Amino acid sequence: MNVLVTGATGKVGRRMVARLAAAGVEVRAGSRHPGAATSPHVTPVVFDWYDRSTWAPALGEAEGVVVKGLDLDHYAHETVSQLIAAAPRVRRVVLLSAPGVERLPDDQPRRALELTVRDHGRDWVILRANWFMQNFDEDERVFAEALRTRGELHAPTGRARVSFVDTRDVADATVAGLTEDRAGGHAFTLTGPDSLTFGQVADAIGRATGRTVRHVDATLPEHREHMRRPDRPAGYVNHINHLFEVVRTGVQAAVSDDYRRLTGNPPRTFENYVKDAWTR
Ligand SMILES: NC(=O)c1ccc[n+]([C@@H]2O[C@H](COP(=O)([O-])OP(=O)(O)OC[C@H]3O[C@@H](n4cnc5c(N)ncnc54)[C@H](OP(=O)(O)O)[C@@H]3O)[C@@H](O)[C@H]2O)c1
Repeated sequence: MNVLVTGATGKVGRRMVARLAAAGVEVRAGSRHPGAATSPHVTPVVFDWYDRSTWAPALGEAEGVVVKGLDLDHYAHETVSQLIAAAPRVRRVVLLSAPGVERLPDDQPRRALELTVRDHGRDWVILRANWFMQNFDEDERVFAEALRTRGELHAPTGRARVSFVDTRDVADATVAGLTEDRAGGHAFTLTGPDSLTFGQVADAIGRATGRTVRHVDATLPEHREHMRRPDRPAGYVNHINHLFEVVRTGVQAAVSDDYRRLTGNPPRTFENYVKDAWTR
C-alpha cells in the first residue's frame, strides 16, 4: 500500500510516518519542508495545502491519504474536497479530528470537514484524537518553553480534565485505520486511559524532573494576553484560546475505549509519557 501523510514532519505526523513504514507501507511524507528520507519505505515530498501545484506530485500513486493540519482554515472542507477529487487512485481517507466534533453544528468548520470526508464517496476513517501528551515537551509556543525555563504550565483551565493521548498511540491507530478493512466507515475517539487536570500534569512533570512545576491558571482574556507576541498571528492565538475554552467545558475529559477496540492494545498512560519525555 502507498500512502500520502500530510503534515508529515510534525509531532504526530513524523510518528505516523515511522509506524507506517515499520508496518511495510510505502509512505509519501508530505510537508512544505520535507527534509531527507528516514527509511527505504519513506519518500519525503513537497506538499502544501495552499499550493495546488504540489498536490499531484505529492500524491503520486497513493491509494490512501492521511488528512490533518487545517485547524485555522474555515474552508478546510472545500480544500479537502478538492484534494480528494484530485486523487482518483485514493481508496481510503483517514482524517485526524478531535473529540466532540461530532456534536458541533454541521456548518461549523471542523464538523463540515468530517462530513466532507464521510460523504465524499471514498472509504473513510475518522480518528478523533484528544490533546497530545507531547504538546507539553514539543510545542514550544504553548507549553514547552515556559515549562523548561521557568517550571510554569500556563493553562486557563481551572480544574477541568483532559484524557490526553500519546502521539505514538495516534500513530498506531493510523496504521490500523489505513490498513484494517474493518475500520472503514467508522470514527474512533482516541484518548489515554486517564483524565488529568493541568495541575496533575504539572505535578507529574515536576516529579519526573525533580523541579517545582506549577500550573499557572488564568482567565481566557488573561491567557490571550500571555500568548500575544508581535510576530504571532492573532488567528493562531485565538485558535489556542478556543482550544482551552473547549477544555473548560469538560467535553475532553471522557476516556474512550476506542483505541483498544481499533488496535487491540491498551493506550499508553501519562506516567509512561512523562517517564519517556521528561526523565533525564
Ligand atoms: N496537538 C494536538 O493536541 C492535536 C490534537 C488532536 C488533533 N490534532 C491535529 O493534528 C494536527 C497535527 O498536529 P501536530 O501537533 O502534530 O502539528 P505540528 O507539530 O505543528 O506539525 C504541523 C505539520 O504540518 C505541516 N504544515 C504546516 N503548514 C502546512 C501547509 N500549509 N501545508 C502542508 N503542511 C503544512 C508542518 O510541516 P511544514 O512546516 O514543513 O509544512 C508539520 O509537518 C493538527 O493540525 C490538528 O489538526 C492535534
